[in-house]
Formats: sequence, structure tokens, C-alpha cells
Amino acid sequence: MGSNSKLAMVIMAAGKGTRLKSQRPKVLHEIGGKPLLAHVIAAASRIVAPAEIFVVIGHHAEKVRAAVASTGVSFVEQTEQLGTGHAIQCAREAIAGYENILVLSGDVPLIRSETIEQLWSIHQAEQAAMTILTAAPDDPTGYGRIVRQSPNSSEVEAIVEQKALSAAQQGIGEINSGIYAFQTAPLLAHLDKLTADNANKEVILTDMAGLLCAAGQRVVAIQAAEAIEVLGANTIAELVALDATLRAATANRLMAQGVTIFRPETCVIDADAEVAADTVIEPFVQLLGRTRIGGDCRIRSYSVIENCTLGRGVLVRQSCVLAESTVADGAKIGPFAHLRPGSEIGEDAHVGNFVETKKTRLGKGAKANHLTYLGDAEVGERTNIGAGVITCNYDGVHKHKTSIGKDAFIGSDSTLVAPVEVGDGAYVGAGSCITHNVPAGALAVGRARQFIKEGWAAARRALRQKE
Ligand code: UD1
Ligand code: CA
Repeated sequence: MGSNSKLAMVIMAAGKGTRLKSQRPKVLHEIGGKPLLAHVIAAASRIVAPAEIFVVIGHHAEKVRAAVASTGVSFVEQTEQLGTGHAIQCAREAIAGYENILVLSGDVPLIRSETIEQLWSIHQAEQAAMTILTAAPDDPTGYGRIVRQSPNSSEVEAIVEQKALSAAQQGIGEINSGIYAFQTAPLLAHLDKLTADNANKEVILTDMAGLLCAAGQRVVAIQAAEAIEVLGANTIAELVALDATLRAATANRLMAQGVTIFRPETCVIDADAEVAADTVIEPFVQLLGRTRIGGDCRIRSYSVIENCTLGRGVLVRQSCVLAESTVADGAKIGPFAHLRPGSEIGEDAHVGNFVETKKTRLGKGAKANHLTYLGDAEVGERTNIGAGVITCNYDGVHKHKTSIGKDAFIGSDSTLVAPVEVGDGAYVGAGSCITHNVPAGALAVGRARQFIKEGWAAARRALRQKE
């Protein structure tokens, strides 16, 4: 690929997305677990530095800016959305210093950087004023159509929007993707000639093709190999279709890397998920956000894992919910376990049935197998937490910490009223309410003593018969 030093990108993302019937700006709707615009920025960022990507924002500008500001892109404001041509008019100053610009649409999210690079290199080889990326989808309805100078010519006479199609042009199958390369000088020279005097009643960038062609400039089109890459998301149904396509591609990518996914069509795997080879994912699993899963794991059905990191050989049994947590090699989770944010489950540790953890570190080989809540807690290596143990971490105002050493044993149904510490190797008798620190190696029993009344039951029955 040629030198990029004089290349900028413009991503048009100011539109309202009326056809989505949504309060949320269109480009913040998500596929594969991330906003449409974030996908386009990611593709663009593989070609130029983020500062040279100019995102045109307008409708809910501040929301859109906040959602993608961390990528380092630049922004241009289009306060009134008068059309795609007007969006570029608003970017005039931003692009003036560059020899060429690539224009992308914020609502065409599956575009690959390889395809943008192809457009860019053909644009340079053709020395065209404007190079249009096109496609031939099964159904071209709604898209702008490409009118070539003659059927086999690479040169384009005009782009005609759906509303302006003549009867003869209705039959054209080649569509405009909304992705273009421009030489900046001819673009700027003709930019003010774009007006709303057309069938769309908007200042549309697509009119630039006809303007440049009429001025004797070279306008060419190249067709993308895969139409799906350039399809837009203008309705919820289109959005969901693109989401399905992207998720199928993500599952295929993981399977190609050695991951087994049974019934992948039932799984919801976000675009940024990573899974290492020899891991098995059962039907109806969700892997969301930036989840990382090591090799040789098994994720059983109905588990939902969001922004978590799992080591090697981890078993997540059925119906677990894991969020913002880490699980080390060989640990076993579930079934029906809930790891809330900040849980750190150590190597070979067990978190069993109906156990909830939050901001809790479970040491290597520690076990909490049944019906337990561990919040703001630290549990040492090999410590056993009995069934039904609860850390009382909240006094109604503040959260407090429970610290349990290694090789300790907390008997079933005990409550640990934080802040409290249990030392290494200590025992807590079942059913205890622990309100004071337990020294290392000690036994603590904090429960009412049992008493026995011999023969009490017979006396009671006799009394009831008399009544
Ligand atoms: C556009 C093209 C059409 C093409 C299709 C491909 C025009 C007039 N038509 O139609 O030929 O086939 O894309 O998907 O360009 N935007 C702004 N400011 C505005 C208006 C729009 O930034 O004032 C942004 C939108 O947020 C969107 C993009 O530009 O990301 C395209 O606008 P949209 O209204 O979706 O155009 P289409 O009707 O899809
Ligand atoms: Ca669109």
C-alpha cells in the first residue's frame, strides 16, 4: 500500500437514523456487542492514525463523542443534519490539508480494513477524483444505484438515489456502499455545488459523482467481493441480520483456531471475545465483551460470561453468571454460581451451587461449594467454606472486609460479621455468628448451646389429648 501521510478518513455519523424508530442515535446501536461506529473506527484505525480519522457527529453529538472518545479519533460537528454532502461540507477545514480522503459510513459496520485498503490502492492506481465502493446484493432496494458510463466501463456517470430512479434505472443491481475515496482538491472545488435541489431534498454526497463526471473528472467504481460487508443498518431488522452475520463469523474464527462450539447458532459470542484451542463451548452460552478464555476449558450450557478472564482447564458448569472477574487454571464454577465484579477465583478453587461472590479473592484450592455469599472477602489457600456461609459485609451504610486465612474451616451456616478476621488454620463451628476476630489455629463457636429434655415429647402429647 502507498504512503498514507496525506490520507485522512471521514466517518459520517451525524444522522438520526429515523428508520430505526429509536431514541438512541443509530451509530450507537450495537452488533456483536459493540456500537456500529466502533466497528467502523476499528477498521479505519488499521489504516491511519486515530487522530486522522474525523468522525462527523450531530444527532446526540455528545453521546456519540463520549462513546468513542477513548479511541483517540477527531470529531467534526454537523449541527444540522442536512444530508451526507453537507456532512462533508462541515468537514471541509479538517480535510483541507490532505491529498486524499476516504469516506466511510458510521452505519456500514462490517466493512473490513482489507477492503478499504483495496479501495485506496485502486483509487491511487486509477488516479481517479472519486472512487466508489459498490456491491451487488440480492435486493438493491433502498440503496443508491451506480450508473456506469457504459455497461463494462470502470467509469461512472452518476449515482442515482432510490427516490430519483427512472423506470429503466430500477433494474440496476449495482449499489453504492456509501464508502468512497476522493482526491481532496477536486472534491473541495465542487463541494459548494452540492445543493438540496434533488429528489431527496437533502444535500447528498452521492450527487458528487455526477458533478465530477460532468466536469471531466475521473470517477470510477470497484465492486466489493462480498455484498454483506457493505450492507447498511437502517432498520432494526437489518441491524439484527448484520449482528447474526457478525456472530457467525466470530464463531467460525474461533472454530478455525481450534475451539469447539456445539450448535454455534445458539451461542451469543461478541466480536471481541477470545478463546484458546481445545476449549469446548456448549449450546446457549454467551461470551460477552472482552472475555478471554484459555485452552482446555469447558463452558456448559446457559452460562453467561461478560468481560472475564479464565485460565486453562476451567470448568464452568450449567447456568453460571460471571462478570468482570478472573478465574485461574483448573478452577470449577457452578452450576448456578454468580461471580460478580471483582471476583478472583484462584487455581483449582471451587465455587459451587448457588454461591455468589463479589470483590472476593478465593485462594488456590479453596472451596465454597454450596449456598454461600462471599462479598468483600479474602479467602486463603485450601480453606473450606461450608454450606450456607455468609459474609455480612454491609452495615446499611458501609461495606466491610472479611479476611480468612489459609487452611481454615468455616462450618456450615456461619455468618461472619465484617469487619472480621479468621486466622490461618482456624476452625469456626457450624451455625456460628462470628463478630470477633478468630486467632490462627483457634476454634470459635458462636451459637446457643443445645439442651435436652428427656421424655418431653410424650408429656406434651398427653397434655394435648386432655384439651
Ligand atoms: C446512503 C447513500 C446511498 C447508499 C447508502 C449505503 C446518500 C444520499 N445515499 O444512503 O447511496 O446506497 O448510504 O449504505 O448518501 N449522515 C450524516 N449527516 C447527515 C446525514 C447522514 O453524518 O446529514 C450519516 C449517517 O449517520 C450515516 C451515513 O451518513 O452514518 C449515511 O446516511 P444515511 O441516511 O444512512 O444514508 P442512506 O439512506 O443509507
Ligand atoms: Ca444508511
